[in-house]
Amino acid sequence: FLRAHPDLSRRRPWVVAHRGYSGVAPENTLPAVDAALALGCEFVEVDLVVSGDGRPVVIHDPTIDRTTRSTGFVSALKAADLHAADAASWLWAGSFPGRFPEAQGHIGVPSLEAVLSSLAGGGRLLLEFKDFWSPAQIEQVAEAIREAGLMRRVVAQSFNLDTLEALHRVVPELPRCLLRHLPRREDMTHIEHYDVIACNPSIRGYSARQETVQEFLSAGLGVLVWTSDRPTEWARLAEGEVSGIITNQPGRLQGFLAAR
Ligand code: G3P
Ligand code: CA
Repeated sequence: FLRAHPDLSRRRPWVVAHRGYSGVAPENTLPAVDAALALGCEFVEVDLVVSGDGRPVVIHDPTIDRTTRSTGFVSALKAADLHAADAASWLWAGSFPGRFPEAQGHIGVPSLEAVLSSLAGGGRLLLEFKDFWSPAQIEQVAEAIREAGLMRRVVAQSFNLDTLEALHRVVPELPRCLLRHLPRREDMTHIEHYDVIACNPSIRGYSARQETVQEFLSAGLGVLVWTSDRPTEWARLAEGEVSGIITNQPGRLQGFLAAR
């Protein structure tokens, strides 16, 4: 693993922008991805869900109620409807007042392909597969990544073991991470079985399961901790030599790490 990913052996943790640079732009949108890329952080994390017409789309929830002006299940909507939904203006006005980017025009739920296109100029993607993905759906994603020429710049992650199994079987060349709220020693079995490169715990799991996390690190596995926005946590994580910190505030984290 360390041979394939020499960066993980560095002492400074990777900066991973959670749902794009979601501290400055609506999560899982192209502006959030672009802002993270402009910052030059090591990875941009986004979430992937399948639309009603079988297209991979970038959104966190099973419904569009929280992050757009519309309502409905992603699995019941066509990709075109999801792209047409307004995933930004109300948030720009509410959470990010004064930042409404009139010039950018409409901002919808992006397709995977649109996010991959954003990476044409550089950057790496940490792609979270939400829930269960069939081998056929995964093949579709793999094809999009291949077509974009990004197989070496994308890493997959999932909480779902069946999805990891399908990823391992269908696209073994795509590195995989196991996501865990609370990692357990028994996860080592899954780690070996699905040949994952990292086990990514929640910040709570990182603290509560220190012994297990240390075992993972000693075994040469990556550990990318989510989601941490506090300097007090960053200090602890950097001290603990984790491989990466997944944060909504990658700009602040970069500054924090640079000043250490
Ligand atoms: O990157 C891991 C983290 O994103 C998992 O939690 O709910 O933000 O997708 P969630
Ligand atoms: Ca995620």
